[in-house]
Amino acid sequence: MARVYAGKRILIGVTGSVAAFKVAGWVSTLAKAEALVSVIMTESARQFVTPLTFSALSGEKVHTDMFETESSEVMAHINLGREADIIIIAPASAQTIARLANGMAEDLLSTTVLAARAPVYICPAMNTRMFSHPATQLNLEKLKSFGYTVIDPDEGMMACKEEGKGRLPEWDQVDDIFQRALSNHDLSGKSVLVTAGPTREPIDPARFLSNRSSGKMGFAVARAAYRRGAEVTLVSGPTSLTAPLGVKRIDIQTAIEMHDAVMEYASSSRIIIKSAAVSDYRARTIFDEKVKKEQIKGSLELEKNPDILKELGRRKKEGQVLIGFAAESSRLEKEGRKKLQAKNLDMIAVNNIKSDSTGFEVDNNQLLLLTADGSENLPLVSKERIADMLLDRVVDICSREQRSELSK
Ligand code: PMT
Repeated sequence: MARVYAGKRILIGVTGSVAAFKVAGWVSTLAKAEALVSVIMTESARQFVTPLTFSALSGEKVHTDMFETESSEVMAHINLGREADIIIIAPASAQTIARLANGMAEDLLSTTVLAARAPVYICPAMNTRMFSHPATQLNLEKLKSFGYTVIDPDEGMMACKEEGKGRLPEWDQVDDIFQRALSNHDLSGKSVLVTAGPTREPIDPARFLSNRSSGKMGFAVARAAYRRGAEVTLVSGPTSLTAPLGVKRIDIQTAIEMHDAVMEYASSSRIIIKSAAVSDYRARTIFDEKVKKEQIKGSLELEKNPDILKELGRRKKEGQVLIGFAAESSRLEKEGRKKLQAKNLDMIAVNNIKSDSTGFEVDNNQLLLLTADGSENLPLVSKERIADMLLDRVVDICSREQRSELSK
């Protein structure tokens, strides 16, 4: 459960859309993460879900009326807006979007948003033609110009049995965006390039050379960097994982493709973290047709792939921070140090791939961090947690580099 939500005041505005029921799940998740969730429902929202559902899930009274006279409700629109750390309008109907875009203080939700200082996140959900109508699009552009963040709806089959863009995203897709909004932005303004997953080197239409990397470690690093305010580009080999919506993801298959994608973004990246498991070799010949058993002579001719990290080390620009990973099965420190030096890295994170509880595929990892002048053993924790610990050290390295640049 994400710790960033604990104690944070989250105001959720629920408006009239069939997707309102989905937001009940969001409220439940946030309440379990110990967020202090207040819900405002518009009149139309109450046609879809009852306030009782949201108050049962949030443990708080649901706000519906501008003119309730209970003392705690007097000036509710000012208090709710003033206290919130973040405001999420989900689902945001076309009507509420139009109201907010035009400053129409017609109900408790629109008045509260007008009076608020907190960052506002709008999650539109509606019929696909309503969403793409120029009136809605114009209103959304207006909201963006106010500094609100509009989270694009998903595509797919809608409740009205039409297909297209307009579905409210799942919690997993928006969670990172809200965590980023509430997190400490120590990587703000920094471009971070992360690689993840395996590469796949084809032999014929049926076969390839690859390795056991699932992408979990690299995706955890990309997600953590995104939450901490970085502009993240993720170059990933084939995996089944989903990247946060705000991360620029580039999918590749082979080491050569990874090389080309990495080199395209490397010079504009302040921090590069290479957690991908790149195939060191590829097949010399790629067959157009499936090779028959009888044709196979017992050996496969291989060709060396480029060492992407080594090339990055050679091309490293002043102020750039280059972090490698090392997958080792013995003599972790010795092998790690060789790579740290040979590839001109600021730090290398060595993991033991022989253990059942660290390295490839599993959800946890333990890292030995090596720099030119030190070493540190990080404990066995989730890949999400260790990604954050790794980034703490990266932030330290960046600050040291900045200080030494200033003193020149
Ligand atoms: O994806 P998961 O299932 O979560 O597993 C995580 C992991 C074990 C893959 C990850 O933690 C890890 O160790 N990644 C590095 C794997 C690896 O290729 O290690 P290496 O020791 O072979 O390579 C050293 C470094 O050089 C790595 O940063 C690698 O990305 C880079 N390299 C290697 C070969 C090559 N041709 N080009 C490279 O850039």
